[in-house]
Amino acid sequence: AAVGLVIPAAGLGERLGVGMPKALFAVGGESLLVHAVRAGTASGVVTSVVVAAPMGQAASVHSMIERELPAGAALRVVDGGATRQASVRAALAELPADVRVVLVHDAARCLAPAALFADVAAAVAGGDDAVVPGLGVVDTLKEVGPLGEVIATPDRSRLRAVQTPQGFTREILERAHHEALRRGDNDVSDDAGLVERIGCPVRVIPGHAEAFKVTRPLDVELAEAVLTSRRG
Ligand code: C5P
Repeated sequence: AAVGLVIPAAGLGERLGVGMPKALFAVGGESLLVHAVRAGTASGVVTSVVVAAPMGQAASVHSMIERELPAGAALRVVDGGATRQASVRAALAELPADVRVVLVHDAARCLAPAALFADVAAAVAGGDDAVVPGLGVVDTLKEVGPLGEVIATPDRSRLRAVQTPQGFTREILERAHHEALRRGDNDVSDDAGLVERIGCPVRVIPGHAEAFKVTRPLDVELAEAVLTSRRG
């Protein structure tokens, strides 16, 4: 089945504090977005790419990514929305008709290995409607109230920190976004969360340490170090 790669890349990156949209910030000489597109297309499974670009930058983003695509892959770039969820929704609306499986991948997880995209797509092709990569958590997590009071300490062994690419059948992902909008949810941070809410099972498969999200300044140092070590 044709596989579409949806990349929400419209975030402002306020926690990173680099004074530009995060996806356009460069590590190792290339923007996070270019790294993300390269990894996704290097998986060999992606037939089309739709990027949700920072508002007003669709044209420049299009020319930035065009040359990264393998021959025959389709590219569309749309303006993103005010939330990640809105950006994904805008991109989904532009997927070519033949796409049956969708991988949604944050530009900010720019170093996710190509093999992870292939693993997620294979799990969807194998019959799971919704597949997310995840890793065990190293910290003990607390649920807290507004005054910092601890409400609960969930058993760490049962928790996973989930990443992207997240993979879905197109039908399920579109339905989940549609239902979210109908409910009035507009700022749910992951697509699998929307799919869970329509009662569809979601499977977690092993994630990858290098699929971390570049969010804060320390993450940039980590990304630079990973790229240096990859260059051997
Ligand atoms: O802010 P955060 O790092 O969680 O964003 C995750 C991804 O969602 C990033 O790649 C970011 O560019 C994207 N995003 C978006 N539109 C928004 C907010 C975030 O495409 N309005």
